[in-house]
Amino acid sequence: MTRVSSALVLVLGLVLGVMRPPPPSASTTAVASRPASSSVPSRADGGRYTSFLFGVDYYPEQWPESDWEDDARRMQESGVRVVRMGEFAWSLMEPREGTYDFTLFDRAIDVLARHGVKTILGTPTAAPPKWLTRRYPETLAVTSDGRSVSDQTRRHYCYNSPTYRRLSRRIVEAMASHFEDNPHVVGWQIDNEFNCHISECYSNGCRRAFRAWARERYRDLASLNRRWGTVVWSQRYTDWEQLDLPFPGPAQHNPALMLDYKRFLSDSVVSYEREQVGIVRRHRPRDFITHNQFFKNINYYDLARDLDLFACDNYPSFSETPQYTVGAGLTLARGLNGRFMVMEQQTGAGGQDYLLTGARPGQQSLWAFQAVAHGADGLVHFLWRTARRGPEEYWDGVIDHDNVGRWKHDEFEKEGRELARIGPEILGSRLEADIAVIKDYDAEWVYDYQYFTREVNVGAAFVDLFQAASELKHNIDIVSSQADLGRYKLVFGPYVVLMDPELAARLRRFVEAGGVFIASAHHAAKDRDNGMTDGTPPLWLSDLFGARRTEYFVYQPPSRDGNALRFEGGPALPVGVMAEILEPASARVVARWDRDYMQGRPAVTENRAGRGKAVYYGSFFNLEAARYLMERYATELHIEPLLSGVPEAVEVTRRSGDGADYYFILNHARESVAVAPGGGFTDLLAGGPAPERFTLKAYEYRVLKRGRLPGSGS
Ligand code: GLA
Repeated sequence: MTRVSSALVLVLGLVLGVMRPPPPSASTTAVASRPASSSVPSRADGGRYTSFLFGVDYYPEQWPESDWEDDARRMQESGVRVVRMGEFAWSLMEPREGTYDFTLFDRAIDVLARHGVKTILGTPTAAPPKWLTRRYPETLAVTSDGRSVSDQTRRHYCYNSPTYRRLSRRIVEAMASHFEDNPHVVGWQIDNEFNCHISECYSNGCRRAFRAWARERYRDLASLNRRWGTVVWSQRYTDWEQLDLPFPGPAQHNPALMLDYKRFLSDSVVSYEREQVGIVRRHRPRDFITHNQFFKNINYYDLARDLDLFACDNYPSFSETPQYTVGAGLTLARGLNGRFMVMEQQTGAGGQDYLLTGARPGQQSLWAFQAVAHGADGLVHFLWRTARRGPEEYWDGVIDHDNVGRWKHDEFEKEGRELARIGPEILGSRLEADIAVIKDYDAEWVYDYQYFTREVNVGAAFVDLFQAASELKHNIDIVSSQADLGRYKLVFGPYVVLMDPELAARLRRFVEAGGVFIASAHHAAKDRDNGMTDGTPPLWLSDLFGARRTEYFVYQPPSRDGNALRFEGGPALPVGVMAEILEPASARVVARWDRDYMQGRPAVTENRAGRGKAVYYGSFFNLEAARYLMERYATELHIEPLLSGVPEAVEVTRRSGDGADYYFILNHARESVAVAPGGGFTDLLAGGPAPERFTLKAYEYRVLKRGRLPGSGS
């Protein structure tokens, strides 16, 4: 794979937390308990996060101090209210072990504050100084071939190194106490992009921590041996010290070990983050605390629990179809703990040793507004000025490296004006959806290892379902498998392979109360230990679905020509890898296999249960399946589009505030399109009543407001 295409694969991974093939190596922690038990409480009011934060990422340490005043003045003129800084500056903040110096940042924060610009501080642990890695080489992450990673870039540390933990706590403690009384700091970003570049670790620290983690989880070895099934291939453990990380071996690993390794990696990051959150909160109880962006091997529902809000880093150019890929990612970000902002919004183009296609004029702001349309309550662009040296000298800033602001700057300034106008109105308003997709990290991680065929792509299913909803102009949520489903009408469960009685009971309650739940192939095939049971799938749910899965066949890529699910009086949808043969009991068969040896056998079933319906779709969702099922069941449930008269290339979302709804209408096409949403709207950007029909130029967007009728939901 070339670097650029691996970057494209990466974006889907970044966006949805799923990525294959597995990455090279690793980092992790000395965790011991699962995160849910002892979170640091987040602030219900989001801390000092009371206005729409528009701004830029700024690296004062990379520029002569004599430039700062001019930078701050130009930022102020461009509408900047906040900058993020500091996240890679450990070597300046602690030039020698135990000697701290934050004066550069004191001065930079002051200069900016004089121009009305507040600061979000990043804790600097993503880039340890040389004195640290050279004196304590055990802090380096180790790859699966047993080698320590180089300390010549960033993110090269191990979350489970007790030394790294100690030194991280110390620098964060020093930093938080130094800035304890600074009135210009409003928020904190912990570290930077956990698991970017590297998301596994095979260090001795991780090995020890993994044993402790497993002991805590299983308590006794007999239980671990039974639940993992270590009798297979003589893998029975007789001493905890025999337990090891999944180093490469001649044959395949036990899937139970592989899933627990992922859980352990995630818990390691969460517990590493929690230490920093606790320190910052103690010194700065009024500030908001966040972390930025999704990567592999982290359960972000766990990670976000300790934060006041989640932040994402939005680089649409990593995707060839950003309208949907990025839309799905923003949807996930919004669902993590209800509130999110963008900490790095793409400006122009970017690259490192590769170069991405950049934003075309107009598109930069469209992409920024897409984030706002999906609920962002803050938008910080990466970065103020393009770096002149170092690995990121091709990442465009708002200002070019020759210190001249060109169209990117003009667009940025326009965005600043627009967000200043609408920010106070929309801040805190929420997207409300009738449709949701369940995301279960444990279940998805099963497929990272047991990937079946290279065509199986969990992340893509979320994008397809998002796209299907977006084309029909519906808001859609992505929710954890622990979420309350009661507020939805239609719920999809792609790749929910792991089942347990508690989740089964919640799905049952949802359906019996009137919801429609649609599962795809392999649903509830395994228990939470990632193993099979003596039950016939779907485990714990065959009565809800009124059907069981008795056989399956796998089509190799490209699978779509292998078979089709032919709906009664409807289309024949191309198979997605799996062709499951269902055995209905009370269920009605609504589609049958089109050909091959299973021709005519049940492929999709529908079962009434209570006031709702459980639908089993006997293949993995692809775009065709997502489109058909979304339309069929949204229509059946009378879920109305947000707006009519809006063509496909134009995205619509709706944020709802106390007394008003805000419709974001975004033209992703390179051409003008006609839109006819009807009357009764105010155009928030232009001011005044919006015409009933209008033309949106390429990449143009509008925000229309309409009063909310009392009691009107979505
Ligand atoms: C990431 C990082 C930034 C920078 C940008 C652009 O999102 O957080 O530090 O590297 O990408 O490459």
